[in-house]
Amino acid sequence: MRLYLEMSFFDQIDTANVPQHIAIIMDGNGRWAKSQGKERIFGHFNGVEAVRASVKAATKAGVKYLTLYAFSTENWNRPKEEVEALMNLLVHTIVQEIEELNKNEVRLHTIGDTQSLPASCQEELRRGMERTSGNTRLNLILALSYSARWELTEAIKKIISDQVKPQEVNDNLIHTYLTTKDYPDPELLIRTSGEKRISNFLLWQIAYAELHFTETLWPDFNEEDFYKAICDYQSRERRFGKTSEQLTSGDKLLTEKQ
Ligand code: FPP
Repeated sequence: MRLYLEMSFFDQIDTANVPQHIAIIMDGNGRWAKSQGKERIFGHFNGVEAVRASVKAATKAGVKYLTLYAFSTENWNRPKEEVEALMNLLVHTIVQEIEELNKNEVRLHTIGDTQSLPASCQEELRRGMERTSGNTRLNLILALSYSARWELTEAIKKIISDQVKPQEVNDNLIHTYLTTKDYPDPELLIRTSGEKRISNFLLWQIAYAELHFTETLWPDFNEEDFYKAICDYQSRERRFGKTSEQLTSGDKLLTEKQ
């Protein structure tokens, strides 16, 4: 008989220092399916459970923004059947989960070139965003047909067409031209499946983010894995270019607030 209960990573989280914004590159669905002798789409179907677990864990931990890389600009190059299946899965999941999102006070948002998505997909996303627009506990941001280079290119085009003067261009101004202008930068980026790449995701916004890589394939990623990533983040010293000695308690407070 076990005489003690294993401590959950949730109990080890410092509640005063939870990242406000966590971004996730959900990777490994195809490999997960293949390892079971199944089609890649089977991995995507099972990936939805990991999305649910992450949303639940984020609300429980007090995270305010969760951005998921659900479909990249480059993913359009996948076989037609896989792209279609992913779009159908997305529509189906939104329709199915909307009540649950409302119950948990989760507000849905999207970033990316969503106009390139099929009309049915755009319509369900619009309805989902409208129906959850009053929720404030967690902002769930789906990156769809998104890539950071696309986003930066669009921002530059808009800055030029707005005839912004060179001396007016700075970090803050650029921030207002990004698709993420309404959200703080992520403090923590998680990537599953053992790959250690950023793959064109939020390149501007993750300038100071801590990176957490896990071998776990996305369909296996669960609440505990999410809390573990937060604990890993909290074990890091965030210096923002300063030396360790220069960090004052004020900086540490700032770190906690960011
Ligand atoms: C990466 O695995 C995963 C994707 C490109 C799609 C992620 C989509 C979901 C989890 C489904 C639903 C999402 C929402 C938000 C409802 P991969 O196919 O690149 O895996 P591999 O690297 O093993 O081939």
